[in-house]
Amino acid sequence: KLAPQIAPSILSADLARLGDDVAKVLAAGADIVHFDVMDNHYVPNLTFGPAICEALRKYGISAPLDVHLMIEPVDELAAAFAKAGASYITFHPEATRHIDRSLQAIRAAGCKAGLVFNPATPLDCLQYVMDKVDMVLLMSVNPGFGGQSFIPAALPKLRQARALIDAYVKANPGREIRLEIDGGVKTDNIAEIAAAGADTFVAGSAIFGNKDYAATIAAMREQIAL
Ligand code: DX5
Ligand code: ZN
Repeated sequence: KLAPQIAPSILSADLARLGDDVAKVLAAGADIVHFDVMDNHYVPNLTFGPAICEALRKYGISAPLDVHLMIEPVDELAAAFAKAGASYITFHPEATRHIDRSLQAIRAAGCKAGLVFNPATPLDCLQYVMDKVDMVLLMSVNPGFGGQSFIPAALPKLRQARALIDAYVKANPGREIRLEIDGGVKTDNIAEIAAAGADTFVAGSAIFGNKDYAATIAAMREQIAL
């Protein structure tokens, strides 16, 4: 199993002081930075594009940037995010016409690629592209907003994804595929989420909603380690 990673979602950061807030949450012990991209088309909200990603790199943020695309179509902006310094680029399979091609393009651009599944979207396509996927992201809320509550059906789905990934990695030693969960992750439910198989934990409101980022991240790590 991969070492657990805490991924604060900058959707809930202080957007007027984004560089400082991201540096602060990394200093507080975060592993990777979750970057929510919304287009008011695939989801009913609007956030930030590649220019902000590039600005964070220029500011000196060197941690992995985990770019979650909630946009349609996918390919042009994915390429722009690769140029702008993204590390992971994940997208929703229903937002592109050619899932396999989009994954290949992201990897060819030098990034790690991943698929995101909404709460009621089956994992069906995953089996056909396992060799091109570095991250599987399960949504435990409907995408578009921070601060929603965790949908419990994500737990059995995590176990299902865990089994698929473990079987694939066993047959293909050396491959690393992260299993990420996004939405409603808090200190008081992260233990059961980890037990269901997640190894990468997005948390927006839970981390940025409490001034003491280090305390929240430490409490989350302690829960995961139980
Ligand atoms: C929702 C986003 C999430 C969101 C999580 O569309 O993908 O990353 O910011 O926020 P919390 O942790 O507040 O549920
Ligand atoms: Zn997200």
